[in-house]
Amino acid sequence: ENVPIITVDGPSGAGKGTLSAKLAFSYKWHFLDSGAIYRVLAVAALHHGIELDDQTGLSPLASGLDVTFESSDIGTRVILEGEDVTEDIRNEVIGNAASKVAAIPLVREALLRRQRSFAETPGLVADGRDMGTVVFPSAVAKIYLTASPEARAQRRFEELKAKGLDVKISRLLEDIKARDARDAGRSTAPLRAAEDAYELDSTGLSVIQVFEKAKQFIDSKL
Ligand code: C5P
Repeated sequence: ENVPIITVDGPSGAGKGTLSAKLAFSYKWHFLDSGAIYRVLAVAALHHGIELDDQTGLSPLASGLDVTFESSDIGTRVILEGEDVTEDIRNEVIGNAASKVAAIPLVREALLRRQRSFAETPGLVADGRDMGTVVFPSAVAKIYLTASPEARAQRRFEELKAKGLDVKISRLLEDIKARDARDAGRSTAPLRAAEDAYELDSTGLSVIQVFEKAKQFIDSKL
């Protein structure tokens, strides 16, 4: 594997997706949204009536997961078993379900090869929780992006408000804290910064400022 890889890890809502997409666009590299794979697996489990803690049922589902990412100028469509689930995977219920299936070691193991197969020339930007620690430990540039739980809840609130959804910010903050605890507390591939990661706190920074800081770091590594 000599394809250059940039990893972007961190807690939910820190802005990893936005940063990774901008990086992939700017370098014209491939993009792996590993969270989307866990989200799709959660949807598949719900479709097939498999419980979210049933490792015997989930691990074959994960190995054989029939998902494709169809990228075009207007974005990426996520297709599960022939059905477009692009919008379905983005809600909070599925996010929480994803974090439950993601806590199962056999599931993570089953998804390793699939994630690594995204590493193709000219390069890859990989977004997730364990990209720099487990999936691509030899990545050339690793970023660990954080933001305070309050800042993340506020951003999520504005996103949802823009979609016309009415939610309580206190509720979002609770969800974020619960998800952090689950992602950081699990025994397999817990959320943590790789030793050689550049830790970037996006609290109070604009999207452009985060991008500029990340790019400066990456360019020093390439
Ligand atoms: O990043 P996103 O919110 O889409 O991820 C959904 C869930 O999938 C996360 O809360 C986390 O539990 C899990 N996940 C993971 N490892 C990754 C990416 C996501 O455990 N590399």
